[in-house]
Amino acid sequence: MTTPVIALQHISKTYRLGAVEVPVLRDIQLTVRKGDFFSIMGPSGSGKSTLMNILGCLDRPTDGSYRLDGDEVAHLTDDELAHIRNRKIGFVFQSFNLLTKLSTLENVELPMIYAGVGKEQRRQRATELLGMFGLGNRLQHLPTELSGGQRQRVAIARALANEPSIIMADEPTGNLDTKSGADVMRIFTALHREGRTILLVTHEPDIAAAADSHIELLDGRIRVNGEEMTS
Ligand SMILES: Nc1ncnc2c1ncn2[C@@H]1O[C@H](COP(=O)(O)OP(=O)(O)OP(=O)(O)O)[C@@H](O)[C@H]1O
Ligand SMILES: [Mg+2]
Repeated sequence: MTTPVIALQHISKTYRLGAVEVPVLRDIQLTVRKGDFFSIMGPSGSGKSTLMNILGCLDRPTDGSYRLDGDEVAHLTDDELAHIRNRKIGFVFQSFNLLTKLSTLENVELPMIYAGVGKEQRRQRATELLGMFGLGNRLQHLPTELSGGQRQRVAIARALANEPSIIMADEPTGNLDTKSGADVMRIFTALHREGRTILLVTHEPDIAAAADSHIELLDGRIRVNGEEMTS
């Protein structure tokens, strides 16, 4: 069998607030293969964002092993994590996280600047992506001049800028109306059909239904497709 895209073993995350320890993830096991589409659900505070931030190389676990494309990344430095994230992962945030002083076009170009892509190529790719998402006539707008659904599409275009094979999204439809949410889900479904690996946090069962595997988080432990993941 091919190397999993993601392999978590005995992953735990404990936040420390002064003398108090808050365990959030406990002994998590998870295997994700190329082309999988996972939903992640669980009550508020169950650790969905904590797990996604670790998976997305935005944060490190307290303990355990995280192999990404076969490479151990659990204990890399911030810079090393940022480098890997920029190359391999497209991350979509619930609150868009667009840079407010940059135009639509510049926001989408940004990850390509970090990746060392030349100016012409950057501009062309960003324009193409935004056109695909129906934003071809909004290239010079600032994020504040866009609707919520448009902002989220810019955020998805930005996540795709460096052609990551893995797309992670933390409640990408959480701040959207039903129609914009459906538009965004059509984009994820199309990306999945193209062969990308997708992990998507959501509160909504209708949204989770678009995925073909389902993770549930509860009390710091996960179930995958209804089964307890024990080591
Ligand atoms: N930086 C932090 N320091 C301390 N505790 C934290 C920190 N971030 C999160 N937590 C705690 O970890 C737990 C899980 O938080 P997390 O944001 O992962 O939940 P969630 O499942 O994403 O919830 P929601 O559905 O509300 O987004 C919460 O109890 C939260 O208080
Ligand atoms: Mg969250």
